[in-house]
Amino acid sequence: MTFANVILQWFKKNGRDLPWRGTRDPYRIWLSEVILQQTRIVQGRDYWLRFVERWPTAHDLALASEDEVLRMWQGLGYYSRARNLHHAAQQIDQMGHFPDTLEGIRSLKGVGDYTAAAIASMAFDIDVAVVDGNVYRVLARHYGIDTPINTTQGKRLFTELAQSLLPQGMAAAFNQGMMDFGAMMCTPRSPQCSECPLAETCDALHTRRVDDLPVKLKTTQVKERAMQYVYIRCKGQTAIHRRPSGDIWQGLYEPLMIENRPLPSFDGQLTLLRQGVKHVLTHRILLADFWLLETEVKPDLPSDYFWISETDLDRYAVPRLVEHLLDCLAKYTEKTKYK
Ligand code: ADE
Repeated sequence: MTFANVILQWFKKNGRDLPWRGTRDPYRIWLSEVILQQTRIVQGRDYWLRFVERWPTAHDLALASEDEVLRMWQGLGYYSRARNLHHAAQQIDQMGHFPDTLEGIRSLKGVGDYTAAAIASMAFDIDVAVVDGNVYRVLARHYGIDTPINTTQGKRLFTELAQSLLPQGMAAAFNQGMMDFGAMMCTPRSPQCSECPLAETCDALHTRRVDDLPVKLKTTQVKERAMQYVYIRCKGQTAIHRRPSGDIWQGLYEPLMIENRPLPSFDGQLTLLRQGVKHVLTHRILLADFWLLETEVKPDLPSDYFWISETDLDRYAVPRLVEHLLDCLAKYTEKTKYK
């Protein structure tokens, strides 16, 4: 049996039952793919269901405000995905229909080679192979390829290999089969080699390289960043600002944040809620301290800060780290309420 037939047969029997697999609607498939980049399926599923209920078509999403979209996205992280999604919905709305060619799909904001191939194959049956982390792993192991996957050469090699294996007319099932197979059988750690229908022909298994493949070059430099958050509580109000472009968390809101300089002195009572909270992003490690300032006089703040009622905070999309701060604050407030 060919490699592709093993995958197709395995997928028919073991493929995951995901809510977007019942549709050919490119908008819904696109939405699922954007949500699933960097998000686990169990978590992404609920977000997808909420998104399609709230905005059933690209036109509906195009009419939403960016704040609303970010608010819905809250908790998924990597917020540029949400901003691109919103922008692309407006592109689609202007085109009058969802683009139905690979190039057309690829021209949408935030849609790269992977997402374009996924939508093209699943919504339009275009014969194009997807190459995501799962596909790299399955191919690198089965064909014993040690070319690093995060190089131009590696990307080209694996893309060409995947394309050459693709059974014509079966792209939707083959691509999803490869991804599920990588996610469920050929997993990064402790793969199910003893149950694997491709074990006989797997190069990595025979050469004992399963744990060494695929190869990835270490490149990204992770920088540390220390941030002091001061949640100000003044007569039921608190101050926040919208994060500007050109930095992490563009468009999200946060309380007073001080970086690269000591805390100024404030009137009122300053309490350290948590120290050294670690938050890992792709290219950054953030180390944050959470402070609470309880005061009767509003401190002078940079001009982009504004005051809102504390009870209105949940109308603003905040980074995960700030959600953490708000949890610490709620616990602290609960604990001191009866004192
Ligand atoms: N991961 C991202 N998209 C997927 C899909 N359509 N099927 C399986 N895994 C995925």
